[in-house]
Amino acid sequence: MSKDKFYITTPIYYPSDKLHIGHSYCTVATDTMARYKRMRGFDVKFLTGTDEHGQKIERIAKDKGVSPKEYVDSIVLWVKKLWKTLDISYDYYIRTTDEIHVKAVQKIFKKLYDNGDIYKSSYEGWYCTPCETFFTERQLTDGKCPDCGRDVEKLKEESYFFKLSKYQDRIIKHIEENPEFIQPPTRKNEMLNNFLKPGLEDLCVSRTSFKWGIPVDFDQGHIVYVWVDALSNYISALGYGGDDDADFKKYWPADVHVVGKEIVRFHTIVWPAMLMALDLPLPKKIFGHGWLIIDGGKMSKSKGNVVDPMVLTEKYGVDAIRYFLLREIAFGQDGNFTNEALINRINSDLANDLGNLLSRTVAMIEKYFGGTLPSEQTGNEFDKDVIKVVENTVRNVEEYMEKMLFSDAFTEIWNLVRRCNKYIDETTPWVIAKDESRRAELAGIMYTLSEALRVIAVLISPGMPNTPKEIFKQLGIDDENLKSWDSVHNFGALSKEIKVNKGNVIFPRIDVKKELAELEEAMEKSMRECVANKGGEEKKSDEFITIDDFAKVELKVGEVIKCEKVEKADKLLKSQIKIGAEVRQVVSGIAKFYSPEEMVGKKVVVVTNLKPVKLRGILSEGMILAASDDGGNLKAVTVDGDIESGAEVR
Ligand code: ME8
Ligand code: MG
Repeated sequence: MSKDKFYITTPIYYPSDKLHIGHSYCTVATDTMARYKRMRGFDVKFLTGTDEHGQKIERIAKDKGVSPKEYVDSIVLWVKKLWKTLDISYDYYIRTTDEIHVKAVQKIFKKLYDNGDIYKSSYEGWYCTPCETFFTERQLTDGKCPDCGRDVEKLKEESYFFKLSKYQDRIIKHIEENPEFIQPPTRKNEMLNNFLKPGLEDLCVSRTSFKWGIPVDFDQGHIVYVWVDALSNYISALGYGGDDDADFKKYWPADVHVVGKEIVRFHTIVWPAMLMALDLPLPKKIFGHGWLIIDGGKMSKSKGNVVDPMVLTEKYGVDAIRYFLLREIAFGQDGNFTNEALINRINSDLANDLGNLLSRTVAMIEKYFGGTLPSEQTGNEFDKDVIKVVENTVRNVEEYMEKMLFSDAFTEIWNLVRRCNKYIDETTPWVIAKDESRRAELAGIMYTLSEALRVIAVLISPGMPNTPKEIFKQLGIDDENLKSWDSVHNFGALSKEIKVNKGNVIFPRIDVKKELAELEEAMEKSMRECVANKGGEEKKSDEFITIDDFAKVELKVGEVIKCEKVEKADKLLKSQIKIGAEVRQVVSGIAKFYSPEEMVGKKVVVVTNLKPVKLRGILSEGMILAASDDGGNLKAVTVDGDIESGAEVR
């Protein structure tokens, strides 16, 4: 019997900089689903890759003095290393600079043109280069990019357009008739109400003002513009339009495209329209996940608040990071990334719950039976409940995994882990061990624990590919059948004479206080590097600012009237600052340099029109200016002599 196929994709990432934990989040989730489906017997194709064209890449490369291709090559090397570090089991890596993709896109473009779905006109609009997005006047926020808040440029040029509007009704119909098409369901209403029902505008699909892209082969000077290039990767990677399209025939349509919520629109409207125009079947499902948030904002490369996934995995190991991402945040919703939450999960769920269950079980089998269980075993009154929990867990995990509800699946598994720890407390092996006549009962308890651990190891393996190996090793399980998904339906499959091998602690406990300080330092360092790089790049292209630019920053003299340390944050001080008639709360990273007492009474310079942010959950409405040098000194900027608080600094 031939296997059913399962085709799953991540978005292709922009290699405009190194990827951060937000990208890793999406890729880890997709990988987990791919591994799960493989274990369930599917012929899986898991695609990821990079989206390498565009003006932004062209500009970065130019600033660095290399060709765009040289630049993306270097980032792609790094991306592949990251995926290797995170144990991402992709089957194919597509680069939009690959010959196979370039050819396919040219074919697709020509076909759409020949069919009358693409026409020539001219485009006028506002363009945000860092975001590579056109906006209409109406979409701008105070004349700036609505996504990143930076300046936009007005552009008018001859362009090709794709007749998106033509497909509007068919797309609405498809979405309404296929409730599974857009997941989670809330995103479906968003698409219908915000985009489809108000009416679609045709989409600009070629550009002439830069060169780094796929040439339109029948009109020199035009290059294919972003979404037609990017979205086509899902079929070009299968050989669509090429000499060998066996994979395309086998795997298309995709079973699920996993994408972030901000690009659901392109995947559920533009992509279906393109496929309709090409007369190809639509993907079965688009899953729009939420964002990883740090301090209230989407983590993004262009903002520079980067949490480096390499740093995290080096410190805690791949499985801990993967577990955290899958468990902490409900897939589909936004979630907060904090170092505390990460360390808490590692300590409580991994070190305490799972780690202890394994080490206690193995240690008891060593201690009471010299490492090998006798085959003579009897049950006890608690077995029935444990076995029932195992069976329910397996059923629920399967249901959640099918729906890609990873957090729910892991919650279920951890309920089982906790149930097993409770079983140890209920059965009190250390008491039974004192009674020579209860050897068989004691052996039975050890067997139930080992067998439950085996099931747990199998269930976690799609999300945590390494930990099960260690669990199997310590429980002396070699037989591949006992590691397969099917085997979890068969509690008791493990033979009675278990022979354990005492091993290392699978998840060492972390000293929270020490670790947080270290981690913060590492993060700050990588952030500083990132910001330093950015600063360097931006200076070159834009050496001066105008007086108007400067005037946007509102600076005032403020008097610190109260100041205290922020609990559990060595670097932060929380100040109440009197600025004219008002008092503002400002959190600053100056605790290493000033005591709260030293700050009180100082007249400092405060940026007063900064968007308020929360630092460690504490509202900060402004920023105290300070000077710092490379030697690690920092001095707050104060005023020379007496002046009223609230005075403007210009
Ligand atoms: O959008 N949390 O590329 P991209 C969660 N090239 N997900 C995040 C995230 C965060 N903080 N930051 C980014 C593109 N992502 C296009 C895709 S597909 C045909 C073309 C996710 O590198 C984001 O939501 O900007 C998106 O799904 C993916 O990373 C790639 O983002
Ligand atoms: Mg993006």
